[in-house]
Amino acid sequence: MRWCTPRGGPTRAARPTPVGPLAPPGPPEEPSVSTAVAPVATSAPSRPAGLVFDRTDELATAAHEQVVFCHDRATGLRAIIALHDTTLGPALGGTRIKAYASEADALTDVLRLSQGMTAKSAAAGMDLGGGKAVIIGDPSVIKTRELLLAYGRFVDSLGGRYVTAADIGSTADDLDIVAESTRWVVGKNKGGSGDSGYSTAYGVFCAMRAAAERRFGPSGLSGRTVGVEGVGKVGSRLVSLLAAAGVERILVSDPYAAATAALAANLAHVEVVPSVIDAAVDVYAPCALGATLTPSSVAALRAPVVCGAANNQLLTHDVADLMHARGILWVPDYVANAGGVVQVGGELYGQSHEEVEAKIAAIGHTTEEILRTADDLGITTSAAADAIVEARLAARRSELGR
Ligand SMILES: NC(=O)c1ccc[n+]([C@@H]2O[C@H](COP(=O)([O-])OP(=O)(O)OC[C@H]3O[C@@H](n4cnc5c(N)ncnc54)[C@H](O)[C@@H]3O)[C@@H](O)[C@H]2O)c1
Repeated sequence: MRWCTPRGGPTRAARPTPVGPLAPPGPPEEPSVSTAVAPVATSAPSRPAGLVFDRTDELATAAHEQVVFCHDRATGLRAIIALHDTTLGPALGGTRIKAYASEADALTDVLRLSQGMTAKSAAAGMDLGGGKAVIIGDPSVIKTRELLLAYGRFVDSLGGRYVTAADIGSTADDLDIVAESTRWVVGKNKGGSGDSGYSTAYGVFCAMRAAAERRFGPSGLSGRTVGVEGVGKVGSRLVSLLAAAGVERILVSDPYAAATAALAANLAHVEVVPSVIDAAVDVYAPCALGATLTPSSVAALRAPVVCGAANNQLLTHDVADLMHARGILWVPDYVANAGGVVQVGGELYGQSHEEVEAKIAAIGHTTEEILRTADDLGITTSAAADAIVEARLAARRSELGR
């Protein structure tokens, strides 16, 4: 794998870009670059034409428009920015900072996460495309002001085709620093909408309430038991919303004991347990890591409803079929957890708080539609949600004559 190293300062794309909140986008430009790689050294052995794209890794079959490998020697920054699809608008998605076991793992993660962002924004009715970035390294070790500034210059070099936000390993405070190098940042503290944890939790809550009403009838979540796995920025807010909505018992698990202890101390309905995924709950809410839904975990699930914030909850796509076969109602992750992107997308477009809140609440209506369609057609909830995404993308492509 070779990495693109900037020479001198950042390069700016020629595309004119507005300052501050954007008007809804016109037709996005055709992507101009498929993969950015460093220039081949003159001493390198001659290569057959086209070898740049003749890859053997996951990128070889990826459907992405553009994948940029970023390397800054001075700070040691190694990042990958993936733009999956900009049909609906600029690619918006957070920057994950993580100590990946290998560069291949980082590439796999950013390709999947950016694809998920296309689906998430499309299903939430946002005029946004799908993008995501990863910075390779342990955030507690590598995250310096200089590295974040260098990263911002790479984001800036894309001229607004990619807009970044926070993700695991990065915070709204970090984004304030990134924003010193590029205007293409949302979710920052200074002049931005800040941490999106509450918005995401509220969207998950609306989706979960819709799923519970479908499964348990009009009483919905009232009197039920919900298990929340992970009580960080999203999970902790979700627990508070559930407690206020009359949920009878809320089981929480998190290896970070201080987080669960604080919730249990403040909310009477909360019980701390070692694991919720196999507990006797009505709803399992994965709000920590992805890929917890596997053939074996689904076989052991006791919850008839699954709805949570974690991205990429399925280990493999066919796990949706296993849940369908067991009659488990799964709200696809990218539908349930869109509240954060609705918030930061609203910031990008200068929408009011009321508009953003209404769009987050609409995640509940989208969930109802997906669950109804899945029932009517006898298909998985995953297939029903994917159909909404495809229909929206196809309609916009047709408007654009693509
Ligand atoms: N923050 C957002 O706006 C947002 C938006 C969309 C999706 N998500 C996704 O939601 C999930 C949670 O995001 P967050 O912002 O709350 O992250 P966070 O880092 O604030 O919280 C995650 C929590 O999960 C805990 N955890 C880790 N491993 C666990 C395990 N095996 N079992 C139980 N708990 C475990 C951590 O200790 C931490 O407290 C992530 O998968 C994230 O990608 C977040």
